[in-house]
Amino acid sequence: MDKVKLSWIGHSCFEISCGKTVLIDPFIDGNPAATVSSSELEPDIIAVTHGHSDHLGDTVSIAQRTGCTVVCIHEISQYLRSKGIKTIGMNIGGTVQVDDISFTMTDAVHSSSIDEANWGFDGGKAAGFVITCNGISVYHAGDTGIFKDMELIYQLYHPDVALLPIGGRYTMDSKDAALAVKMLQVNMAIPMHYNTFEEVAQDPMIFANSVKTLSKAEVLIMAVNDSMVL
Ligand code: NI
Ligand code: MN
Repeated sequence: MDKVKLSWIGHSCFEISCGKTVLIDPFIDGNPAATVSSSELEPDIIAVTHGHSDHLGDTVSIAQRTGCTVVCIHEISQYLRSKGIKTIGMNIGGTVQVDDISFTMTDAVHSSSIDEANWGFDGGKAAGFVITCNGISVYHAGDTGIFKDMELIYQLYHPDVALLPIGGRYTMDSKDAALAVKMLQVNMAIPMHYNTFEEVAQDPMIFANSVKTLSKAEVLIMAVNDSMVL
């Protein structure tokens, strides 16, 4: 069976490769943490959690160049279609299958304006995804505060790995995210959305140590451009 490779491009942007390549929240060219250029990336699918510029990022230019499909909430799908991009619009609780990869849209407690507000498009609701490929499920929480229904995400989808924001201010911080790991009952947790900007400065060791007191999950603190095989 093909393996699943997970790479961190920086902030909330990850690439999952499992035959096809999925890019999640491709904030790259304006991303102070990223070292690659969006023009180097050739995803088959982009998944966008919400409209904020540090998540929608370079979706438009990458999708226009590569012709890839964008999986996102209905409102962002309408916006991207107006730019000639191929999308699969969906909403929270739904699952779509693209090239043997399944995308389930989960709730997130956050807002979702499209930062190019003058376009007059509403970003709908902020979301997360459980992405399943070759039998491995990865939960990307998007931007979110902690919420009790993370227990439902465990109950329904049993993700193996959770990618969780820990930067505070706009999302959960390390301590909240550690409790999220406990609720999600994942084997592995990877922190994201921290130290990109001063506003989300955070020591990931606080997350790692807090997880240790609450669950048996392994915490993997990735460096930008690190890859791992799940
Ligand atoms: Ni956001
Ligand atoms: Mn964000």
